[in-house]
Amino acid sequence: MQSRHLELSQVGIDFPTPKGPFTALTDVNLKIQKGEFISLIGHSGCGKSTVLNIVAGLHQATTGGVILDGAEVKEPGPERAVVFQNHSLLPWLSCYKNVELAVKQTQKGKSKQEIRDWVMHNMELVHMTHALDKLPSEISGGMKQRVGIARALAMEPKVLLMDEPFGALDALTRAHLQDSLMEIHADLGNTVIMITHDVDEAVLLSDRIVMMTNGPAATIGEILDVKLERPRDRLALADNPEYNHYRHEVLTFLYEKQKKVETVSGHKKSKQSGAKKKSDAA
Ligand SMILES: Nc1ncnc2c1ncn2[C@@H]1O[C@H](COP(=O)(O)OP(=O)(O)OP(=O)(O)O)[C@@H](O)[C@H]1O
Ligand SMILES: [Mg+2]
Repeated sequence: MQSRHLELSQVGIDFPTPKGPFTALTDVNLKIQKGEFISLIGHSGCGKSTVLNIVAGLHQATTGGVILDGAEVKEPGPERAVVFQNHSLLPWLSCYKNVELAVKQTQKGKSKQEIRDWVMHNMELVHMTHALDKLPSEISGGMKQRVGIARALAMEPKVLLMDEPFGALDALTRAHLQDSLMEIHADLGNTVIMITHDVDEAVLLSDRIVMMTNGPAATIGEILDVKLERPRDRLALADNPEYNHYRHEVLTFLYEKQKKVETVSGHKKSKQSGAKKKSDAA
């Protein structure tokens, strides 16, 4: 058993609102090993981004906390790089300069040549060396997302945090980027926590799928171990009974155990049944 890498213990958060504190999360417990690929899945508004932001250090937990390699997370840091859904590149800098800036900020000892080599290496990982001098406004959404991933990887983070990184993309671009991400993860062995709404994406990419209950006071409902061999091939998996079993498990959790009923007036009711809380065995 590997030593403990990333641990969320009893994480809970209350947000202040005009009507008093709103408990978004409660008792979130998760132990993650180095190099694991974790997906977070759950209905809209359940608290996935809040969990990710607490690990990123962007939100402070009200109860409990997060420990990464023995140190408590108190603020954002380059060892926990975040990739957002809406590719947050600086619009006035070229693709190359966007990645270079992250390298200069996080790896101060590097010479000019080393910086250049490192930027190029990371642009190669995401297959974006053809657009080094383009501005973000001159490239497609999928390309922007690739540069965002290169920028995060260039910081050599211990943990890569991704909040619906491919959510805004068409299905084909999304599939290409999922394949690139699997290759990069196999090469670098980073720990990844990725939020997704896409059940196939979660099964294809993850070692474990963390399924969250509906809020308020959301927590981890179930954790699914995905034991499919790597490298994984989406076409071969389409007819694989094991793959379909995992898919079915996630769908059952989302649409039976944590069913959300949206009425015509937009008023939300949620049903929480049978979601036994499972503490992480890692
Ligand atoms: N700063 C805040 N102040 C008050 N409430 C907040 C704040 N941030 C999030 N919330 C509430 O906490 C809950 C969880 O929000 P969060 O953004 O984590 O959900 P999510 O699972 O990421 O949803 P989505 O899938 O739609 O992105 C929601 O009810 C949201 O309204
Ligand atoms: Mg979110």
